[in-house]
Amino acid sequence: MTRLFTGTEQFFRPGYRANLVDSWLPALDGVVDKLIAGAEVADIGCGHGVSTTLIAHSFPNSTVHGFDYHEGSIVRARELATEQALGNVDFAVASAADYPGDGYDLVCYFDSLHDMGDPVGALRHAHETLADDGTVMLVEPFAHDSLAENLNPVGRMYYAASTVLCTPSSLAQPVSLGLGAQAGEQRLAEVAAEAGFGSFRRATETPFNLVLEASH
Ligand SMILES: C[S@@+](CC[C@H](N)C(=O)[O-])C[C@H]1O[C@@H](n2cnc3c(N)ncnc32)[C@H](O)[C@@H]1O
Repeated sequence: MTRLFTGTEQFFRPGYRANLVDSWLPALDGVVDKLIAGAEVADIGCGHGVSTTLIAHSFPNSTVHGFDYHEGSIVRARELATEQALGNVDFAVASAADYPGDGYDLVCYFDSLHDMGDPVGALRHAHETLADDGTVMLVEPFAHDSLAENLNPVGRMYYAASTVLCTPSSLAQPVSLGLGAQAGEQRLAEVAAEAGFGSFRRATETPFNLVLEASH
């Protein structure tokens, strides 16, 4: 089991290093200016905290809080933050449905929302804990909206991972929505609307990721 979480850390790290600070955050409306000035950030389903520590390292005036319901991941995330001597990041074991804090300027989900049993409930909690002018950043596996369009090398790889990891994770949790790793932008927009978000758009993408932005 430990290897699954370590493998996840190593699988995603290169993409986050290459894209998160240089491309994805700048694609969001006004978020980088807030991060430079000093923002409150929550990273939900943060795993080993690769994304969390990258944001903290790049924006020293901001405070970044990583939450995950898996205790072993939070232990490892704390180790990574300590190794990097980061003073502006903290981690806590908490579920997406009830993580603490409010008034967040940015709430992020890196490849985690579709793994959750209740993504609508998770985003509803994000809606409640977000500042009035705050932003939700949803990083999801790249997917088109139909199965036929996803029958390409990237989609086939993600459907396989989704079958053994993402979908069972969701089905094992209350509500068990089972979005899967190939939910696609249209389905994710429906989830965000049901959670109360009035605005939703694709901020940017890579061949492997959709980067979606939601706000009140
Ligand atoms: C595929 S991993 C991604 C981890 C990390 N965000 C990354 O990009 O490396 C999905 C994460 O979501 C977490 N997760 C799943 N359901 C959750 C829930 N209901 N509340 C909090 N975390 C959850 C898992 O424990 C796991 O760490």
